Amino acid sequence: MDKPLWLNPHFLPLLLTIFFFPPFPLQPSLLTALQSDYVRHPPRKVVVTQHHRSKSDPQQVHTSLAGKDYMRISWITDDKDVPSEVEYGTVSGRYNAMAVGDHTSYHYFFYSSGKIHHVNIGPLEPSTTYYYRCGGHGPEFSFKTPPQTFPIEFVVAGDLGQTEWTASTLSHVDSKDYDVFILPGDLSYADTQQPLWDSFGRLVEPYASRRPWMVTEGNHEMEMFPIIYPHGFKAYNARWLMPYQQSGSTSNLYYSFNAAGSHVIMLGSYTDFDGDSAQYKWLESDLAKVDRKKTPWVVVVLHAPWHSTNLAHKGEGESMRKAMEDLLYKARVDVVFSGHVHAYERFTRIYDNKADPCGPVYITIGDGGNREGLALVFENPTSELSVYREPSFGHGRLRVVNESRAHWSWHRNNDSDSFVADEVWLQSLTTTESCWLYPGNTDGSMVNKDEL
Ligand SMILES: [Fe+2]
Repeated sequence: MDKPLWLNPHFLPLLLTIFFFPPFPLQPSLLTALQSDYVRHPPRKVVVTQHHRSKSDPQQVHTSLAGKDYMRISWITDDKDVPSEVEYGTVSGRYNAMAVGDHTSYHYFFYSSGKIHHVNIGPLEPSTTYYYRCGGHGPEFSFKTPPQTFPIEFVVAGDLGQTEWTASTLSHVDSKDYDVFILPGDLSYADTQQPLWDSFGRLVEPYASRRPWMVTEGNHEMEMFPIIYPHGFKAYNARWLMPYQQSGSTSNLYYSFNAAGSHVIMLGSYTDFDGDSAQYKWLESDLAKVDRKKTPWVVVVLHAPWHSTNLAHKGEGESMRKAMEDLLYKARVDVVFSGHVHAYERFTRIYDNKADPCGPVYITIGDGGNREGLALVFENPTSELSVYREPSFGHGRLRVVNESRAHWSWHRNNDSDSFVADEVWLQSLTTTESCWLYPGNTDGSMVNKDEL
């Protein structure tokens, strides 16, 4: 005889999901506040992605860059006896290499995670497709390593969540090839409902198992609870292990990586960032090590924007800006991506709240598709520093063509089409001679003008 519904292990998570995420829009439509003739759509319902494989099969497979020429394969099994090993090779079905890694698991109140495997594989060749199998079970997966030289294309989408809009964004992302996915925080919107972390992992697997996904944390990853979980990030750190050790960081909440002439720094908006903090000191030393001859482009990613003309989350990134802006400016960081505000906004180059040709371009891209919907209302009149702003779901692409030129485009989700609503060519500050004292020295050295 079938068990009563309430004894089914999926019943409670489903009930909680429906309670917290009702299948109707959570905020009233403010479409009349908008000026464009593009009709903006309301939030869409949460997609709960079920587990259909066996207990020993891998689920929630995702990949990430793990230091020079290495990638990390992460996955989860219900079966605790599955080994943390990955077989791989460049021919489908023929695995001539194997690597053994580590595993972890965690508890959160009454929830116990599966076995979370992390295996680093390599050294790998650039721009090469590798086929791999996790733990000796289940389907074969494949990924492509990033190129060693330009061009390289980064996809950027923050505040992703797991709604029908998320699925739409991911399908638009996948409609054109790219090399690395960057997520500036707010991944699953599990918000303590741990089965939603599993559901998110299954939703993104078709994409994250094929291209490296590099993430940093947002407020929705914190999941703090007084006394019991005072430090938070329990699920995030266990599931989304990033290459912090490979970049000299002591925390999974901030790290950096290189990819084809680009140095990308993933900062943490929700850990200490003041001048005497570990993150600040790490950032200072990481920037000091950047060799602009090898990585002419320097990109910073964080969650709470330092500049925004949206009414949502106004000023939440201000204390971090005050603490760290000088470091970024003196290092001639090219672009700063952030999320948190559920809209798209591109600014000009800024330093100290003024337009400055040697400051970073600031881009807010928290419009991946989460359940909370869009941040529809911007300040009026707008700031002259804000070049383009729009509250629509979408994603961005940074195609770095060479050491001096990169093309940025923002792709609005427009149901079946992904419409390019904003685009601009960027010149790297490495090749912007007016930002350096001795541009073009034969030994390649450059001195920041501010160090005069
Ligand atoms: Fe956020």
